[in-house]
Amino acid sequence: MIDLSTNYMGFKLENPIIAASSGMTDSVDKIKNLEVNGVGAVVLKSLFEEQIMMEIDKTTAQNLYNTYGDAEEYIEYYTRKHNIDNYLHLIEKSKAEVDIPVIASLNSFSVGRWVDFAEKIESAGADGIELNLFLLPGDQKFSGQEIENIYLDIIRSVRKNTTLPIAVKLSSYFTGLADSLIKMSKEQVSAMVLFNRFYSPDVDLENEQIVSSRIFSLPEENSNCIRWIGILSDKVDCDLAASTGIVDGYDALKNLLVGAKAVQVASTLYKNTAKQIGIMKHQMEVWMNEKGYKSLDEIIGKLSYKKIEKPMIYERAQFMKYFQK
Ligand SMILES: Cc1cc2nc3c(=O)[nH]c(=O)nc-3n(C[C@H](O)[C@H](O)[C@H](O)COP(=O)(O)O)c2cc1C
Repeated sequence: MIDLSTNYMGFKLENPIIAASSGMTDSVDKIKNLEVNGVGAVVLKSLFEEQIMMEIDKTTAQNLYNTYGDAEEYIEYYTRKHNIDNYLHLIEKSKAEVDIPVIASLNSFSVGRWVDFAEKIESAGADGIELNLFLLPGDQKFSGQEIENIYLDIIRSVRKNTTLPIAVKLSSYFTGLADSLIKMSKEQVSAMVLFNRFYSPDVDLENEQIVSSRIFSLPEENSNCIRWIGILSDKVDCDLAASTGIVDGYDALKNLLVGAKAVQVASTLYKNTAKQIGIMKHQMEVWMNEKGYKSLDEIIGKLSYKKIEKPMIYERAQFMKYFQK
């Protein structure tokens, strides 16, 4: 009997597969279905800073919209349709219906009064909070250090407003990535999720317009997680979860081997339905059986930076020896 359980954010998960924050986790029925299909935990669809500000301070929220230009109307429509009471109900109802940990998700880019909302999330019964933090470093008025300080301030102010375990979901857009992530891990957070994946632009050549690029990830995108989780898992003061490009049980195993305690999946659930969770667990068990492993404890971090003989492989970035004729 293979033991797939893992400890993540202070929870003992039956297995390491977490349904990532997305439209797949925005209703009680979908969450129940994920549990029936064997998911280890769920992260609810994010509640956005603008949604909270819309309810507590309409003027500030309106100013925030101005920074979005054309997106303004959509954001206003979205915030009206998905108000914060609905979000609190989603937490309460999910907690009443499922036994797996339910982690709420807050998206933010600044410190503000919205942080008080962490208290309400706790009262609604969420088991933890995932902070989905992202400031696009595209404004030259802010130095890398200033942007990093905003992240630290947000984490600290949410920490003051709740006793729940906090996970921080981040991008890899930091100049000193290792240093920034290690610093954030010391801010009484239980976990970091590496990495978020964003809505990105593409160019429609036919119509000569900027459009949305692929919504779903490709498996190749996972190598960035492998590198950074491998490098950082022995150095940060919290658990790590991998996110982006994890499609099947073999991808999950790779991320665990380099040091992730759990993996988060979104695109593969959209493409293959919640049934993919069962397939992933089976694939993990088959591999572990063949290799003679009985539990995840034996494999988590086995190939991390400090554990392997030639850790330079994680740092090698140039293709010196490939494609030379
Ligand atoms: C349709 C869609 C909606 C998403 N919404 C959110 C969100 O509200 N909050 C969040 O933190 N991440 C959100 N994500 C990002 C996912 O949680 C995940 O980090 C990302 O898709 C990479 O994982 P994947 O390769 O398994 O898709 C969304 C992703 C998709 C595809």
